[in-house]
Amino acid sequence: MDIVASGIRPTGFLHLGNYFGALRNFIKMQNENKCFFFIADYHSLTTHPHPSDLQTNVRNVLIDYIAAGLDPEKATIYVQSDVPQVCELSLLLSMNVYVGELQRVASFKEKVRRQPNNVNAGLLNYPVLMAADILLHRADKVPVGKDQEQHLEMTRDFAQRFNHIYQQEYFKLPVAYNFGNELVKIPGLDGSTKMSKSDNEASCIYLSDAPEVVRKKVMRAVSDSGPTEPGQPKSQAVENLFLLMKAVSTPDTVQYFEDQYQACQIRYGDMKKQLANDMIAFLQPIYERILELRSKSDYISKVAREGAEKARESASKTVRDVREIIGFKAL
Ligand code: TYM
Repeated sequence: MDIVASGIRPTGFLHLGNYFGALRNFIKMQNENKCFFFIADYHSLTTHPHPSDLQTNVRNVLIDYIAAGLDPEKATIYVQSDVPQVCELSLLLSMNVYVGELQRVASFKEKVRRQPNNVNAGLLNYPVLMAADILLHRADKVPVGKDQEQHLEMTRDFAQRFNHIYQQEYFKLPVAYNFGNELVKIPGLDGSTKMSKSDNEASCIYLSDAPEVVRKKVMRAVSDSGPTEPGQPKSQAVENLFLLMKAVSTPDTVQYFEDQYQACQIRYGDMKKQLANDMIAFLQPIYERILELRSKSDYISKVAREGAEKARESASKTVRDVREIIGFKAL
């Protein structure tokens, strides 16, 4: 049985990008593998040093996880900071990581551009902590979106380096769990290539958005003035509408609008109406479970408590092994 590990930062509610990047095929994934899913609250401090309400965000992500299909009876679901062993593993890994390689990471450079007044060491060390999250459970597979590809590659580098330095094949080299497809990047409704809450709230569809909110956001999505000749390439905004449609609608529906586009007869209003309906239908069961879970506060706390216990067990074993491999011994 393979081991799967993945995390999401608790910077707000989960959106469709998170869902298709990391949570797709949850049911199959947790039935066939030993899964660890966590809420990366340490990581969120790199960009939100004073989260307005860290605990509420963590709770909401936990609710969204379960509503999206994660079953705490089958998978281990936990809060990263409940398993501080990850900090020790991160520290130990960091001894064999070079500052230069961390400075070249695309996400670090982007964060430096975005928050020039808060270029903290946590940001630089972000890929090491992320590698520790994954290696803590000696995972084989990591379900992530395309934006995490480089971080995952670094995780493999760090694991390989550790194995090489200490001459033991201890860590496996984890690969992306891509469900047999390319890694995905779900675009935003505002014409941006990635749905992301940090860019523009209106460009995101949250799993917890009420149907009327989904409809309003989709109907306001950016499009263009329409093709004027057959074969005209699509603008980014229109390409985005098609990509979103591919995620939630049937292939026949996508083909219908594709044909309309090619024949220069497309009416974006009709396309958006269809997209909104299909998105609402897709999200309906998740949305209903979210509403239900929000009133089950004790249950959510219990899931977090039990998940932390299971995760600590797996984490302690790895940290114990790693300490021994490195050579720490009681005097
Ligand atoms: P985060 O919190 O930004 O995103 C969580 C997951 O959602 C995916 N994702 C997307 N996928 C497709 N299209 C999008 N528009 C989109 N937006 C987000 C991300 O790829 C990710 O899988 N560093 C991670 C959190 C993390 C982690 C880990 C992940 C910490 N430790 C260990 C995996 C394993 C992050 O910031 O994801």
